[in-house]
Amino acid sequence: MSASQNGARDDSGRARSVAIIMDGNGRWAAGRGLSVAEGHREGARALRRTVEAAIDLGVESLAVYAFSTENWARPAEEVGALLELLDETIERELPDLAKQGVRTRFFGRRDRIPEASREKMAELERETAANVRLQLWIAFDYGSRGELVEAVRRLVADQVLPEDVSEQTLAERFYAPELPDPDLVIRTSGEQRLSNFLLWQSAYSELVFTETLWPDFGKDALGAALDEYARRARRYGAR
Ligand code: FPP
Repeated sequence: MSASQNGARDDSGRARSVAIIMDGNGRWAAGRGLSVAEGHREGARALRRTVEAAIDLGVESLAVYAFSTENWARPAEEVGALLELLDETIERELPDLAKQGVRTRFFGRRDRIPEASREKMAELERETAANVRLQLWIAFDYGSRGELVEAVRRLVADQVLPEDVSEQTLAERFYAPELPDPDLVIRTSGEQRLSNFLLWQSAYSELVFTETLWPDFGKDALGAALDEYARRARRYGAR
């Protein structure tokens, strides 16, 4: 499989598949004397705004990092607030987006998520399965290294022969095999690292880092990142 095969490469220079590391909720809240939970709540509003902007800007697939496997190590109160926000987002924000043609899928581990939330996730995935305007992928309890280890376990369990192990047979066993490789990965809040997000899938992605804190992100910031992407020349290792 070539680097671009699984992606949504568009030779017009437009990014069709975008991934975002939504960072800076805590700093946004601290700057206003608010709790970190309020920062995440504002982050959920920014997510909705950004999905609507992505539709307007012609993005076809948007993957966002909502909760990493490492985030369980945060204070119990903050973890609880994020799990609550997951339920609230599924109940309040995502149905409105579904009406606008958004198909939502979650990717990551499901076994540590409370049963009631798991059911809500599955229900939303079922209800939006026929939507085609924008593919929204929400990473929840996701870590790229864990995903790779899990995929190797599945190869072994499926008794795949060594000579049949390939990029394709491995990637078919990821949490979301249909997730296109991102053309563009954006990280907000000035941090410049991938933090275990889509390490395999972003092998040839363009990276854009913005100082904007996630709760302040929206159409202008997304448009600026897409413009920056359009100025880049992607070569996939070739000349
Ligand atoms: C990183 O900011 C952000 C997170 C760990 C959570 C992201 C979650 C949302 C945007 C909420 C919406 C989504 C769902 C579906 C629940 P940080 O808290 O690490 O920021 P800091 O580095 O400034 O402290």
